[in-house]
Formats: sequence, structure tokens, C-alpha cells
Amino acid sequence: MRRLVSVDDLTADAVAEIFRLTALFKREGVPKSRRGDWALLFLEPSTRTRLSFEKALKALGFETYLFGAQGSSLKKGESLEDTLVTLSAQGFEWFVVRTPQNGVLKPLAEKGFKIVNAGDGTNEHPTQALIDAFTLKEVFGHLRDLKVLFVGDLTYSRVFRSGYKLLRKLGAAVGAAGPRSMRPPALKELGVKVFSSLDEGLSWCDAAVFLRVQRERQHRPLMTSERDYLALFGLTPERAEYLRSRGKYYLHPGPVNRGVEIAAAEVYGKNSLIKRQVENGPFVRASVAHLME
Ligand code: CP
Repeated sequence: MRRLVSVDDLTADAVAEIFRLTALFKREGVPKSRRGDWALLFLEPSTRTRLSFEKALKALGFETYLFGAQGSSLKKGESLEDTLVTLSAQGFEWFVVRTPQNGVLKPLAEKGFKIVNAGDGTNEHPTQALIDAFTLKEVFGHLRDLKVLFVGDLTYSRVFRSGYKLLRKLGAAVGAAGPRSMRPPALKELGVKVFSSLDEGLSWCDAAVFLRVQRERQHRPLMTSERDYLALFGLTPERAEYLRSRGKYYLHPGPVNRGVEIAAAEVYGKNSLIKRQVENGPFVRASVAHLME
């Protein structure tokens, strides 16, 4: 594998190999098997993705160098491409990139830069999709015909955009529920079953992925109040109890807006897979990095 900028870069066989390695690394530890230098360009804030990539790469034996927008020559107007040219000339072979700009990584990967996308704007977050799918497979034992509901800010979520593609590729059925103001058009054309009521969606699904409300990307307020949002499209204690009573699970890619997407007391409640998603992060990312040529 020379790049992972989109779920479109992954065949079903490649995903199977990533999942095989992830399970192996989780069971037996990550082998110190690789050498070389990765630059981690995080041009937007991150906790989970940044630290789990760094942990995974170091465990594999790579050297890692963190690079942020603040204090870099990007602030002086240097382009991302010139930055990658510069870092390549310094001997960096691979790049993990998080950027607020949609779709800028594919043309750079096509120019030969070996890039793993750590989230580009509202476009894609393929390693998060792998983590979520791997976590669901661990819990349910299979993904084929599993019903997965994405809930909330579907318009601005790169987790949704990568997640629905990957889950459908692996044979799962995907549904979506969210306020009309946060629902992109043409979801049905993407093969996604649309629910206008969250409770209908929860009765249909086996697992629900609650998405962060991306206030920093919304150009105008898209909800009347946080309390209304929780009541209509959030995981209230009553909904969490309903999921538990039916053997259904819930996920969130993080960070959670407590009391908005999920009631504070339910974030790590029984049948929450949020800690498990985070726990799987370094192993999934080590598998991806291990497969990078
Ligand atoms: N899920 C996710 O991308 O979290 P961070 O922004 O903390 O990396």
C-alpha cells in the first residue's frame, strides 16, 4: 500500500489483511519490524488520532516527527505541496496528514507522496472508519448484514463519509438519522437508509454511531439549543437503556460534546464502545503503517 487517503483506496482484501494484523498485534503486541522516518502533519487539533499514530509508529520501530501549522512556514504562505517536497528532501518517506482542507491529499498522493489521511476537512477519515468497523466486528463477530445507524451531523462528518463507504463495502447495511439542517442531500442515492426519527432508526439498527456536532465547520447555527438536540437526536438515558435492553451498542468517534450527542452519564455506560474504539486505534494504525511500502 502506498497511500490511504480515502476508503476508495482499500479493497475488501486489503481491509481483511488490516483486520488480521490488528487482531494479531492486539493479541501478541506490535512487532518492532520497520525503520524510517514519518512526519506527522497535524494542521488541525487532534488528541486520539495524533497520539495513536505516534504510539503505533514508534511501536513498529519508526521514528516520528510531529509538525503543526503553528510555528511552521505554512503560516508564511508555503503550500502543503512545497512543505512535503521540503520534508521529503530532508529524508522523510511517509506522511500522516490532518488538514482542514477537503480533498487536497489525493492529488498529492497521485504525485507520489506516501500519505495516510488523518482527516481532511469534511471529506474523509479512513483510519477512523477502519477502527469503527474493526470494533463492530470484534463485538458482533461479523459485519455482513449488520445494521449500523449514523446519527447527527451527517453534513460535516468525515467519519460518516468514510464510515458508510467502508461498512457498505464490507456488506453491512447503513442508516442515517439527523436533523434536516444536518442531513446532506442524496443520502438515499449513496445506499443509505434515511430515518427522520432517531427512535425509528434505533429500533432498526444493531449499533448506532453518534457523530460530533461540528460547530467549528457550520457556517450558521444548525440547532435551536443543545437541550433540544439531545432530546431529538441525542442518546438520552432512556434511549441508552433501550439499546441495552435489546443487546444493541453505541459508538462515537470522539471528542464527545457531553450532554449534546450523548447524555453525560452514558458516555462510558454499559454498551458504549467508545473506550474500545480508542483502545483499537493504535493497533489499527500500526497495521496500516506496517502495510505501507
Ligand atoms: N476521532 C478523532 O479523529 O479524534 P481526534 O480529533 O481527537 O483525533
